Amino acid sequence: MTYARIAGIGSFLPEKVVTNQDLETTMDTSDEWIRERTGIKRRHIAVDGETTSSMGLIAARRAMDSAGVGPDDIDLIVLGTATPDKIFPATACIIQRQLGVKGCPAFDVHAACSGFLYGLDLANRFIRTNGARTALVIGSETLSRITDWQDRGTAVLFGDGAGAVVLEASDEPGILATHIHADGEYEELLQVEQGVSVGFDVTRAGGAYIKMEGNAVFRRAVATFDNIARETVADLDGHLDDIDWFVPHQANMRIIKAAAKKLNMPMDRVVATVDEHANTSGASIPLALDVAIGDGPIQRRQTLLLAAFGAGFTWCSAMLRYGERASEPK
Ligand code: UT7
Repeated sequence: MTYARIAGIGSFLPEKVVTNQDLETTMDTSDEWIRERTGIKRRHIAVDGETTSSMGLIAARRAMDSAGVGPDDIDLIVLGTATPDKIFPATACIIQRQLGVKGCPAFDVHAACSGFLYGLDLANRFIRTNGARTALVIGSETLSRITDWQDRGTAVLFGDGAGAVVLEASDEPGILATHIHADGEYEELLQVEQGVSVGFDVTRAGGAYIKMEGNAVFRRAVATFDNIARETVADLDGHLDDIDWFVPHQANMRIIKAAAKKLNMPMDRVVATVDEHANTSGASIPLALDVAIGDGPIQRRQTLLLAAFGAGFTWCSAMLRYGERASEPK
C-alpha cells in the first residue's frame, strides 16, 4: 500500500507588518476591539512587487529544502489560492517555471480558505494511486489586494503570506484521512461579487472587495469545525483524544476557542497563529503548521487534525501522523 507523508514544510511572510495601532490611524477602529473580537494583533501585507507567486515560490523552495528534494523530484504542483497572479495561466504554473520544474501537472485549486487542504487532499489521492511520488502543495494569498481598506468590518481581519509542504510516497501512513466538502447555498455570505464572467465594474463601490456577513459565517464556522472533526475521527474508528494537535484555519481566535471547546480540546493542544498572521485564507494552515513544527511544540509521531472552512462554503479536514522532523535530514 502506498501512503503520502509530509516530508518537508516551509513558509513565507512579507516583511511589512501592519499593526492594529496602524489601522487605528486610518479607520474608525481600535486595537482593543480587534483583539477582543478577533484575537488579531498584527498582519503581514505584501508590498508592490510581492505577489501570490513570489511568496508561494519562497515557501515552496523552503519546503523542498527541508525535504531534501530538488526540481527534478517534483511530479505534481497544486496551489490553493483565491488571489492568483493572473486570470491565466494558473499561478501554480508560474511557480513551476520559477522552480525550474518541467512537465509535471501544475494547477490552482480555488476553494477560498479551504484551498490548501483541498490541494492536500488531491495530492494525497495522486500519491496513493501512484499518479505522483513527490508533490508540492502550496497555499499562497495576497488578500490585501481584495480588501476594502475603508471597511472596518473586513479590513482588520486579513493578511498575506504563503506556506507549502512536500508530500512524498511512503510505506508508512502519514496522511491517515482527508474529507472535503462544499455547499454553494451560502454563496452570498462570503464573497467578492465581481469577476471575469459577471464583469468588472470599477464604478460600483466595494464590488471588487471581500464582503462578509460576519455573524452568520462565524456561527457556521464553529459548527462546521465540530462536525468535520467528529466525521474524520469516526471514519478512522478513533476518538477525539487521539488527536495530539488541532490545527484549524486561522480566521478568528473566538472561532478557534469555540470550536476547541465544543471538541473538549484544551487550548494547549490547539495551534493558533491568528494573532500574528490574521486570516491568510489558503495560506493559514501551512503557515500555522510551519510555526508549530519549526521551533514549535509539534513532535514526530504525533497526530494532527487540520481543518479549514471558507467561502463557498467549503470545508475540509486532514488527519495525519507527522513523521520525520522536517528540519532534519532524512
Ligand atoms: O476565513 C473565512 C471565514 N471567516 C470567518 O470565519 C470570519 C467570521 N466572522 C467573524 O470573525 C466576526 O463575525 C467578525 C470579527 C467579522 C465580527 O465580529 P462580531 O463580534 O461578529 O461583530 P459584529 O459584526 O456583530 O459587530 C459588532 C459591532 C458593530 O457595531 P454596532 O452595530 O454594535 O454599533 C460593528 O459596527 O462592532 C462594530 N465593528 C467594529 N468596531 C470597531 C465592526 N468592525 C469593527 C472594527 N472596529 N474593526
